[in-house]
Amino acid sequence: MINYLTAGESHGPQLTAIITGVPAGLPINPDQINAALAARQVGYGRGLRQQIEHDTVEILSGIRHGQTLGSPITLAIQNRDHANWGTVMDPFGQAGREDAKRALTDPRPGHADLVGGMKYGQTDLRNILERSSARETAIRVAVGNVCEQLLATLGIQLCGYVRQLGLALAQGDEPLDVSQLAQGIDNDVRCFDPAMIPAAHDAIDTAKQKGDTLGGLIRVVANGVPAGLGSHTEWNTKLDGQLAGAVMAVNAVKGVSFGIGFDVASVPGSQVMDEINWTPEAGYTRASDQLGGFEGGMTNGMPIVLNAAVKPIPTLTRPLKTVNITNHQAAKASRERSDTSAVVPASLVIENVVAITLAQAITDTFDSNSLPRLQKQLSAYRQELRNF
Ligand SMILES: Cc1cc2nc3c(=O)[nH]c(=O)nc-3n(C[C@H](O)[C@H](O)[C@H](O)COP(=O)(O)O)c2cc1C
Repeated sequence: MINYLTAGESHGPQLTAIITGVPAGLPINPDQINAALAARQVGYGRGLRQQIEHDTVEILSGIRHGQTLGSPITLAIQNRDHANWGTVMDPFGQAGREDAKRALTDPRPGHADLVGGMKYGQTDLRNILERSSARETAIRVAVGNVCEQLLATLGIQLCGYVRQLGLALAQGDEPLDVSQLAQGIDNDVRCFDPAMIPAAHDAIDTAKQKGDTLGGLIRVVANGVPAGLGSHTEWNTKLDGQLAGAVMAVNAVKGVSFGIGFDVASVPGSQVMDEINWTPEAGYTRASDQLGGFEGGMTNGMPIVLNAAVKPIPTLTRPLKTVNITNHQAAKASRERSDTSAVVPASLVIENVVAITLAQAITDTFDSNSLPRLQKQLSAYRQELRNF
């Protein structure tokens, strides 16, 4: 089964990930990883850090002659900004004047600064910020893209996009077809409704002028996922629960739902459940996808539709009230260089985290040592489902 670990501080020398359990024989295209990294860096509302970084992946193990070996894959992304930090992030540098300038003692409400400092006994909260920063999501996107490349060879595609940014809302229903979606969201808000673009720009511009930040709603759709991933048998094998956990673990995500989401609380059952059809060609399908592709913790063969609520960025240029941890006096929260909204890049990060979780479910379910064997098993399984 695929697993991964990431390491690296926001202004340290590099971000690193090690992925295990990727089947041998998977062709990897580094240009695709780099395209995903570039997409994470752009989008309306991004800040100055993105002008410094030009994220590109280095592959240090697990791939030979363009194909995976089945051994751990090491990925790295250099932090160009590290060069501007002198000895501040040097593992063995001496604390000096520069460190004092970059020290953080006025914790930002909504960030990990204060609780992280309390828990880890750190009086320079930079020691918390450096790892809690969403800079780490760059390497998660690289891991996710390796998983997306695996899923593509198995006929599974994903698309993450923005449905709401502040009060700017997409109107109408988007298609559940990933290729149609991907074409439609090719804009700097990653939204499908073109009328939402100027409204989102205005919302971000206004928030920026006020020194404020904005959250929003993301949706990820996955096509081609076979029925029966996950399981009803044990609480921790339910795939909707695993996806919700993985997506909630993306910085700033505060809510996850599937399909019509929290409307399940108010809509009568007759309009929530997806009625069952059968045809000889397709086997079992559903008349609708209200439940977002999950029943009993298992995929049901319909498109997965996952929604995520992203909170506004905690670093405000008009800072909130806080307390200085050195003297316990009232203070204004620290102002790191920051975005106005992370909603657009978050849609890509969340898409990639969903890809990782789906790739984990597939490699957990089938023999995944070699890609051709995995492909053979999956196509036999799909045939079995059609004949059920
Ligand atoms: C892609 C992305 C970019 C982000 N950029 C910033 C940022 O520039 N400034 C900031 O304060 N928070 C940013 N955040 C959010 C924080 O990382 C997050 O709020 C913080 O780590 C606390 O975690 P929590 O919100 O999950 O509780 C970003 C989040 C994402 C997903």
